[in-house]
Amino acid sequence: MSWKDIPKVELHLHHEGAAPPAFIRGLAQERDVNLTGVFDDNGNYLFGDFAQFLRVYEAATAVLKSPDDYRRLTLAVLEESAKHGVVYTESFISPDFCGGGDLGAWREYLHAIREAADEAERTMGITLRGIVTCIRHFGPDRAKPIALCAAETAGDWIVGFGMGGDETMGAQGDFAYSFDLAREAGLRLTTHAGEWGGAKSIWQAVRDLKVERVGHGIQAIDDLALVDYLAEHEIVLEVCPGSNVALGAVPSFKAHPIAKLRERGVRVTVSTDDPPFFRTTMTREFDELERTFGWGEAEFRELAQTSLDAAFCDADTRDRIAKQLEQT
Ligand code: ADE
Ligand code: ZN
Repeated sequence: MSWKDIPKVELHLHHEGAAPPAFIRGLAQERDVNLTGVFDDNGNYLFGDFAQFLRVYEAATAVLKSPDDYRRLTLAVLEESAKHGVVYTESFISPDFCGGGDLGAWREYLHAIREAADEAERTMGITLRGIVTCIRHFGPDRAKPIALCAAETAGDWIVGFGMGGDETMGAQGDFAYSFDLAREAGLRLTTHAGEWGGAKSIWQAVRDLKVERVGHGIQAIDDLALVDYLAEHEIVLEVCPGSNVALGAVPSFKAHPIAKLRERGVRVTVSTDDPPFFRTTMTREFDELERTFGWGEAEFRELAQTSLDAAFCDADTRDRIAKQLEQT
């Protein structure tokens, strides 16, 4: 049996990283962009380690040149998520990748994404909300105008501010100005921490950026005082097991700390991160969790509820999604 149809809530999905390879190839052909080195012979994204992954990711996103490209991307991404039972998702949207960082056109990009999201909600029954995301290795100065984009469009659709990218560069606290600005605009906060930067990076995230969710956070397992802190303060981890295995952050599903973190009281959720890069889907994540840890319907219903509780959407949206979870 597969967990394809059980209703799911996904909190950690990179909008651009969810682009199906065929979609990126099609756009590249239309635009006459050369993507040598981005795909392997079978048409999958080609990378060996995290550094190569980031390079290929940025090369692929360079074909997204207009708001209409983002409209089409959004439909392609949501169609794929809906197929796997996702009823609510939050995606990381990076103004740095919209038309190569054309911040003057940010509202047009956002408008196009929302148009597609509205269509997907009507036709596929999936709800999307956005988290504007800065890129760590582009540095703290570049994060400031990204936070301004987020603040200017904060509301019932752009609900959060976050940070992805190379966590080994600098410290979380270098970005405090941008996170403070976003918080003051009413946005909820998350950052990638403890994927590569160790438990120390998670401490920085909660202390220096005061985030309420952490992207990945799996290296907390190396510091039990931190594990207990996360549990006690109800900090939610956006765990992406398939991504961690594919990028080598953990050696295997069996070695993944998600079950241990959950057993010690941490609120864990499950997401795909950049599904086509890691040849995963929400269904595959659930199937692997069943195979590896024996999780079943009770655990997966609990996951959906934990995720919905931690979602950054408003109360009306949360109530509506809760009903969708109950009905299926
Ligand atoms: N951007 C897209 N995927 C990412 C990941 N797994 N870690 C950091 N930044 C990312
Ligand atoms: Zn991520």
